[in-house]
Amino acid sequence: MKKLLKTTTSVLAGLTLSFSVIAAGGGALDHANTDINDQKSLQNGAKLFMNYCSGCHSIAFMRYNRIGKDLGISDADVEKNLMFNGEKIGDKVTSSMSDKGAIQWFGTTPPDLSLVSRSKGVDWVYTYLRSFYKDESRPFGVNNKILVNASMPDVLWELKQNKSAEDFDQDVRDITNFLDYVGEPAKLVRVDLGYKVLAFLFVLFILSYLLKKEYWKDVKYGKWRAKD
Ligand code: HEC
Repeated sequence: MKKLLKTTTSVLAGLTLSFSVIAAGGGALDHANTDINDQKSLQNGAKLFMNYCSGCHSIAFMRYNRIGKDLGISDADVEKNLMFNGEKIGDKVTSSMSDKGAIQWFGTTPPDLSLVSRSKGVDWVYTYLRSFYKDESRPFGVNNKILVNASMPDVLWELKQNKSAEDFDQDVRDITNFLDYVGEPAKLVRVDLGYKVLAFLFVLFILSYLLKKEYWKDVKYGKWRAKD
């Protein structure tokens, strides 16, 4: 028994350690503090993503019209503000960059970002986008603190230069929030439905309780048992 306890403890300690190493990912992460129910933030995130990221990155599990429907943007506005390359409203959000060109320019293909918020976490994405720093030894003159030697240029440098630190952080938060939504679009519906189901169960509980009282009244003091 003692031995079993000892083994379990060391296995648990090992697991905790490896989890924290994975979570840390080479540096402490900032909290993204995103809110998937903040529609304004999601709309701004979608706009920024289409302007600053979709040239290289696809989110191929997503279609333009689904984004419009989920984020409360009309089809006309989606076409005007989120689509730039003559796509159709029902198309998936793919990038126009060819793999061959990407390898030539970056030495790698920019990964699809449909699930990045789930594989790496929102805090990682938020911190990554805010962690570029000057490094002349790199091809684009920048390096990244948490993705060392990243082959992605600092695409948000202009935003960072032209905005206050707070506004810039909010923009990055909005992009991250949008990627969180893209990682699980059903989250919007799921959470909303959850509240409705709970409300329904609450009403059902009251009705069933009243019904139970009504039934037991007969059982306790029915025809076959006089009132005591
Ligand atoms: C000029 C092309 C380009 C643009 C524009 C671009 N990226 Fe990237 N991105 C890359 C490349 C290339 C990589 C691969 C980096 C590597 O692995 O070294 C990458 C990697 C990433 C990763 C890491 C993914 C992973 O799983 O490792 C994230 C997250 C990311 N980009 C988000 C963004 C966001 C958000 C934007 C828009 C604000 C953006 N990128 C704009 C080229 C680009």
